[in-house]
Amino acid sequence: MSTTTSVSSRWSSKLAFILAATGSAVGLGNLWKFPYIMGQNGGGAFVLVYLFCVLLVGIPVMMAEVYIGKEGRSSPAHAMGKVAREHNISSNWSYNGALGVLAGFLILSFYVVIAGWAVAYIYYSASGAITAANGQSAVIQHLFGSLVGSVDKLILFTTIIIGVSVYVLSHGVKQGLEIAIRYMMPALFILLVIVMLYSCATGDFHGAVQFMFYPDFSKLSFSGFLVALGHAFFTLSLSLGIMIMYGAYLPEGTSIAKTSIIVALADTVVALFAGLAIYPVVFAHGIAPGAGPGLLFKSLPIAFSNMPLGGFIATLFFVMVTFAALTSVLSLFEAPIAYFVERRGMTRISATILCGVLIWLLSLLSIFSLAGASWATFKTPLGNGFFDILDYVTANIMLPVCGLFTAIFVGWKLKVNKRTAKSFEMKVGFSQYIFCLRYITPAAITLVFLNAIGVLPW
Ligand code: PHE
Ligand code: NA
Repeated sequence: MSTTTSVSSRWSSKLAFILAATGSAVGLGNLWKFPYIMGQNGGGAFVLVYLFCVLLVGIPVMMAEVYIGKEGRSSPAHAMGKVAREHNISSNWSYNGALGVLAGFLILSFYVVIAGWAVAYIYYSASGAITAANGQSAVIQHLFGSLVGSVDKLILFTTIIIGVSVYVLSHGVKQGLEIAIRYMMPALFILLVIVMLYSCATGDFHGAVQFMFYPDFSKLSFSGFLVALGHAFFTLSLSLGIMIMYGAYLPEGTSIAKTSIIVALADTVVALFAGLAIYPVVFAHGIAPGAGPGLLFKSLPIAFSNMPLGGFIATLFFVMVTFAALTSVLSLFEAPIAYFVERRGMTRISATILCGVLIWLLSLLSIFSLAGASWATFKTPLGNGFFDILDYVTANIMLPVCGLFTAIFVGWKLKVNKRTAKSFEMKVGFSQYIFCLRYITPAAITLVFLNAIGVLPW
């Protein structure tokens, strides 16, 4: 970025940052995961704890990542090391990035399977299978069961998602995709609002609001706090170097705080709206809030099958869910690809194909455990079967650990001075921010960990 850039092109690259970061952040985490983990963890109290995690941990860590990217102005793996060198600190800090690469791989391996469900539901919507249910919950439950119970179907749809991603990443059609995000994200948002209004008007609105916004802490277990914290990282795409990568393009003069808050706010609003679209249907049709990973796909289609133009709206909706998932998948691919290109000297195309193949193989673990194969569904304290365990370990352990290191790195290791303040471009609240990053964020992560393993006395 040259110093003579006009105001309008700076504005557009600030917008480009917000679009790319929102494209990565808004995805299955909001539409699929947040509603079902909220249901499993008792509703309102979970939502409240989650909002605190976004505010006191998620946003501060996102700002720290964007700052590392802006200072380092290079790829995520190098950015942390480069910033460390400039401040005369050990470049071992760049290993934090390695943990991120591994977590990215593991997340992708189950994320692509769920994205495959969304593809399947485009087909079910367009072929009339959803409208044929005529509001009968049993038919919709059966449809979902027939998808998840079939290893062949799961492999087919997962392969489509991985294939499209590898194609996009290796053919450099990302530019076109970025233009698509510009229109798809607002379109998804408008459609989500329509579905939410319909579902609140025709379903159990009162029950949904009661469930989501009246905190009952007796329903929130110790591990529920950890799930809320882990989800704040997962949903904001933190700890994997993604915000570091995008931060490298942040123009001078842009407030790191403002842009991060915009992204986090957009992400949170989508998640809450998804909840308000799903829960009125859930309560009106006697579906259990704790139904698990199938919740989105077992509930909304009932509403679609009742709605005027339901088949059409359902098709559009799942196309957009697929798009939202795809943009997140593409961002997740970046760190593993960069690893093979920068550390192993591969070309971008072969690195992309290799990552695609590895993730496809790894996805079989989740596919078999979701389909109920006995070898893939053993019980452990962290969850039952590969899918649960991969989800739990990545979101609730790996991401918060990386985030803790990032907070310590920027909060304690880097010299915070006038220049840092200038780089953050914050007119107000900079010292409060640094205080939060130094004390509150690390303390919150540590307390939630200790709490979850039962070390704390309460
Ligand atoms: N934030 C994405 C979502 O909510 C998922 C994601 C996690 C993407 C981690 C990138 C990195 O769907
Ligand atoms: Na998200």
